[in-house]
Amino acid sequence: MTERYFVSTPIYYVNGSPHIGHAYTSIAADILARFKRLDGFDVFFLTGTDEHGQKVAAAAAVAGVAPQDFADAVAADFRSMADAMAISYDDFVRTTEPRHLEACAAFWRRLEQAGQIYEGAYEGWYALRDESFYGEDELTLGPDGTRTAPSGAIVEWVREPSYFFRLSAFQERLLALYEADPDFIGPPSRRNEIVNFVRAGLKDLSISRTSFSWGVPVPGNPAHVMYVWCDALVNYITALGYPDTASAQWAFWPADLHLVGKEIARFHAVFWPAFLMAAGLELPRRVFSHGWWTIDGEKMSKSVGNVVDPRALAAEFGVDAVRFFLMREVSFGGDGDFSRKALIGRLNVELANDLGNLAQRTLSLIARNCAGALPETGAANEADSAMREQAASLPALLRAQLDRQAPHESLESIWRVVRAANVYVDRQAPWALRKTDPVRMAVVLRVLADVLRDVATVLQPFMPASMTAMLDQLGVPADARSFAALAVPLAAGTVLPPPQGIFPRHVEPPT
Ligand code: ME8
Ligand code: MG
Repeated sequence: MTERYFVSTPIYYVNGSPHIGHAYTSIAADILARFKRLDGFDVFFLTGTDEHGQKVAAAAAVAGVAPQDFADAVAADFRSMADAMAISYDDFVRTTEPRHLEACAAFWRRLEQAGQIYEGAYEGWYALRDESFYGEDELTLGPDGTRTAPSGAIVEWVREPSYFFRLSAFQERLLALYEADPDFIGPPSRRNEIVNFVRAGLKDLSISRTSFSWGVPVPGNPAHVMYVWCDALVNYITALGYPDTASAQWAFWPADLHLVGKEIARFHAVFWPAFLMAAGLELPRRVFSHGWWTIDGEKMSKSVGNVVDPRALAAEFGVDAVRFFLMREVSFGGDGDFSRKALIGRLNVELANDLGNLAQRTLSLIARNCAGALPETGAANEADSAMREQAASLPALLRAQLDRQAPHESLESIWRVVRAANVYVDRQAPWALRKTDPVRMAVVLRVLADVLRDVATVLQPFMPASMTAMLDQLGVPADARSFAALAVPLAAGTVLPPPQGIFPRHVEPPT
């Protein structure tokens, strides 16, 4: 039976336009999804938009439109961003869809029937920006009397009737989960943070609001809407058809991976598993959170005016160069800084020069000296075998790295091979062999073509369009591009199309 793999991105708030922070998570998840597909898995890749809550209602009010109309427009914008960035999602879930309202209501009833919800009143310090309550001891009092959360968000005292979820009852079970499955939360630094947070004690969680109405109504008491996180987290099972757990789609539960930004790790690694335990459903296998991007050293913000639209970058540099840069520049899990200069540097050195030139040199030599046909494999010497082995080790290496969500390590491993191939081609100098030893020349070019095939095959998840072009030029049939297909050598004599550059150098216009 085919193994299944379910990976999700967060569902993004529709209170503003998509930026490279959102694209980042979606690109990373896309790489994992594409990798698993090429590795023979049956993949379900989910993304979407989070459309309820006070923040969205407030943004709609500012725009002077009804919340649903506002949400429709911004959700379409997020979808266009995903499409522009070549995100191969299988489903795009929106929290204002009927299927989601049904799933939320069913999930709520299930918690209620299990005795996990009670009615009370909530009083506390609430930060609208974070959609989160804070304890008095976490706050900083400013000279003007305002209190701010550790995130810098201003809090206000609120009191309203509310339903509560018995989160406090799950402390021990959550700690037992983290203990029994050290891989449940990644990276390890975030795991420690969350374990400490839960160890410090959990309070019951307020899960409804009466102070605004843009949300999913609480079943049986429509004066309340569900707290936005209670609504949002359910999206992961909405998409699988919950509450119909007999459907074929439900076979994808539990999720293999929820990929999120570090600021929402807690919601996914504490609240979500507690909700699921309470509902008697299986838990996701892993929650991995990556770090945050700044722009030229500054936090991205509308008021600073430094918000970067990934679509504009893709239009200028090519979507694959942007995908490559974001995955290559920083360790996944850590924070990163975006700058045009760094992007152009990587594009020119690593894509145009290291990889692009290698392919161009190899393919033009084959075109000129082998009548444009793929040479025979021939007899390998030690250098040939070492080169081949290094390239052939990539799929297994990447499999292990990507299961730990380390795409930056994968790109480093691939570039080690690319750099080794550049050294190999310089040492073997096939252009000089043409007259002296044409048989040897053909062997060297075939080694290079096979190495390029390995490299392009494993790079498909990272740069799908460019690697499709490279595999086309290498004469690799469209149905022979999975990792399993690498076991079958390409047929010698295959006529290759005329070589064409894949990664043009970027030259900045003079300012
Ligand atoms: O939190 N750097 O939605 P959101 C890296 N709706 N990643 C960034 C980023 C940055 N500067 N800015 C945003 C929500 N992200 C909730 C989620 S899930 C059930 C509900 C990415 O629109 C990162 O993945 O605020 C972060 O977690 C997410 O966008 C937050 O998106
Ligand atoms: Mg946010």
